[in-house]
Amino acid sequence: MGETAPLCLADMARLAEAVLPPEVWDYASGGSGTETTLAANRTALDAVALLPRVLAGVEEASTAGRLLATDAAMPVAVAPMAYQRMLHPDGEPAAAEAARLARVPYVVSTLSSVTLEEIAKVGADTWFQLYWLRERYAVESLVARAEDAGCQALMVTVDVPIMGRRLRDLRNSFSLPADVVAANLDDGAGRAHDRVDGESALAAHTVAAFAPALGWADLEWLRARTTLPLVVKGVLDPRDAVRAVDSGVDSVVVSNHGGRQLDGAATSVRALPAVVAAVADRCEVMLDSGIRSGTDVLRALALGARGVLVGRPVLYGLAVDGARGAGQVLSLLHTELREAMALAGCADVGAARMLSTVRM
Ligand code: FNR
Ligand code: LAC
Repeated sequence: MGETAPLCLADMARLAEAVLPPEVWDYASGGSGTETTLAANRTALDAVALLPRVLAGVEEASTAGRLLATDAAMPVAVAPMAYQRMLHPDGEPAAAEAARLARVPYVVSTLSSVTLEEIAKVGADTWFQLYWLRERYAVESLVARAEDAGCQALMVTVDVPIMGRRLRDLRNSFSLPADVVAANLDDGAGRAHDRVDGESALAAHTVAAFAPALGWADLEWLRARTTLPLVVKGVLDPRDAVRAVDSGVDSVVVSNHGGRQLDGAATSVRALPAVVAAVADRCEVMLDSGIRSGTDVLRALALGARGVLVGRPVLYGLAVDGARGAGQVLSLLHTELREAMALAGCADVGAARMLSTVRM
């Protein structure tokens, strides 16, 4: 990539914007409504100032972190993201290959554009993200397939009863390219290819396919159904975190879906401390939405998170250069985290969680 070699994740985002069709860039980068929550995710992270420790005698910082049953090179997982073949023809297997080489978990979306079995074959530590489909048998079948494919955790996303109102997609009358499909679902589960003026075919597909009235009893059914570690993604209120743990989950992801669902929802960074206080002694608390650097990972750890998910930047790397680009993103993040930990006097992620923060 010569002169344009990305030195940070923002560099990769700029390169991706230059290569992607505008409506795909809008879908991936955009948020819902006025994009207030999307923007606030960044402002809130930037407002977390770290108090580095000195004279800590750290020769080399170890970034290694265990997330659920997975030993990872850093406490970071690739967030579940739909339809990755839209970003690059190599799609999910290429992103999973990047995760495998970086030794971080890769979370397969229910809406992946390659089957979960093919993605699992890549050999990364693979977790499966479940969107609750309207038909219970379809949910059961996805769970069984994830188990059979050797997935190491099941992540249920609970902040998409319907799709957030994404104005960019509405303006673009967004629909999927003909060759990108929800490969895990059969055709009957609905298609997102039919362009309708002023509408988002993805939003229509969500309404057709997802069960909007998902409740705690469903989660408890799933808990009884599988022995895999269970993660609930999309929690902001500590009362929901407590309820989730009472229902037997192993982890909660504090998340506003990258500002793509309820516009006006709190940033996950602001919501995190109360969730940590409520449940971190009983489950692993992770965070996503807006993580763009190793410093951001350190901020999340300092606020008590066990680890983070990183979303869009991986898609941007994938768009720019397939597995190699996605790998560059993860390797930049790793370098940045290692350096930030060294500068903050942290020998390991345990020490990082002991850092204090103030408002910037
Ligand atoms: C997502 N996200 C998402 N989440 C999920 O549980 N299942 C999914 O299929 C998707 N699909 C998806 C597509 C795209 C294009 C994006 C950008 C995001 C949300 C994702 O897992 C994560 O919560 C956010 O992306 C995290 O925020 P950042 O890191 O992108 O700011
Ligand atoms: C999104 C859905 C697919 O955020 O989760 O686009």
